[in-house]
Amino acid sequence: MIDQKLVERAFKNLENAYAPYSNYRVGACVETFNGDYYDGANIENASYGLSNCAERNAVFAAYSNGVRKDDIKALAIVCEGKTIAAPCGACRQVLVELLNKDTPIYLANRTSQTETTIEELLPMSFTQEDL
Ligand code: THU
Repeated sequence: MIDQKLVERAFKNLENAYAPYSNYRVGACVETFNGDYYDGANIENASYGLSNCAERNAVFAAYSNGVRKDDIKALAIVCEGKTIAAPCGACRQVLVELLNKDTPIYLANRTSQTETTIEELLPMSFTQEDL
């Protein structure tokens, strides 16, 4: 079942997006098993390639505070677009490293929601197990 509290928190985080170039705001939130939340929004840059996606910011915030993959209960990623924003390829590679393969990922816009996992989003991935 999709955690509506987590999704609502991600929508709140979307308001902190800094997206003057795309005008496309994204919010994200990591929830840990001990009830902590780590917030993220997309932060863009005039040097476009340096922009950072909301979900990466949320997961990096969690890790920066000592959280590790086994501590993470779920990740929510939300947008205001007509379609649900699925993580970009770069974020999928980050998430396959920093989440467990079956950690719930909730994707939502204002009209629809779905639940997935990084295993589903990035099958046949390259990970530390390959090195
Ligand atoms: N973006 C995210 O933050 N997460 C996604 O899942 C898709 C894309 C951001 C990157 C950029 O700031 C804007 O959305 C448009 O691509």
